[in-house]
Amino acid sequence: MPAPGTPYRIAVLGKTHDRATFNCGSAALDRYLHQQARQDTEKRVAAAFVLVEPPGLRVLGYYTLCASLVNASELPATLAKKLPRYPQLPVTLIGRLAVDQNMKGKGVGQLLLLDALRRSLEAAVNIAAMAVLVDAKDEAAETFYRHFSFLPLQQQPRRLFLPMKTIAGLFHD
Ligand SMILES: CC(C)(COP(=O)(O)OP(=O)(O)OC[C@H]1O[C@@H](n2cnc3c(N)ncnc32)[C@H](O)[C@@H]1OP(=O)(O)O)[C@@H](O)C(=O)NCCC(=O)NCCS
Repeated sequence: MPAPGTPYRIAVLGKTHDRATFNCGSAALDRYLHQQARQDTEKRVAAAFVLVEPPGLRVLGYYTLCASLVNASELPATLAKKLPRYPQLPVTLIGRLAVDQNMKGKGVGQLLLLDALRRSLEAAVNIAAMAVLVDAKDEAAETFYRHFSFLPLQQQPRRLFLPMKTIAGLFHD
């Protein structure tokens, strides 16, 4: 759920949500929501969550989550040496995250990101994930995630991660 007091709701993408007019400025991210996100959610290859302003059902923002793996060799050495020496480690991937252009700069991106982090933390109680990973599509997206303390992986600077320990600290202080 979004922070108390906000007028927005975040829910699993369903048939009744109006996606057709969603426009975030990235054709690929728009097309994914318009044409692919429902199928991916139904087939359980990604879970898509959408933000609406009740009583409307028009999608104002969305993100997707799925299970993934990261190569331990790509983590910063200071973190890797505190972890067991497995070649790969489990993570939760935010595959996509986007906000409608009419809603930009109003805190909706932050709301979606915090919701994604909270859901990832809750899921990790049952299915372990040691970090949340994101693929930043360009420099602006990278700056957005760095603003929330995401760190780059060694060989893929546009692939950023936030340790689950840090996320737990955000929600359990
Ligand atoms: C990146 C995006 C999700 C940001 O959404 P938004 O709703 O405009 O962002 P918010 O209003 O919630 O901003 C939250 C904070 O991030 C900062 N921020 C937002 N966009 C930023 C950017 N591109 N670079 C740096 N900081 C940024 C804001 O200044 C704000 O900081 P504050 O809390 O200190 O005031 C949105 O611009 C978008 O959908 N872009 C196109 C798709 C995209 O790039 N997705 C990223 C994943 S690939």
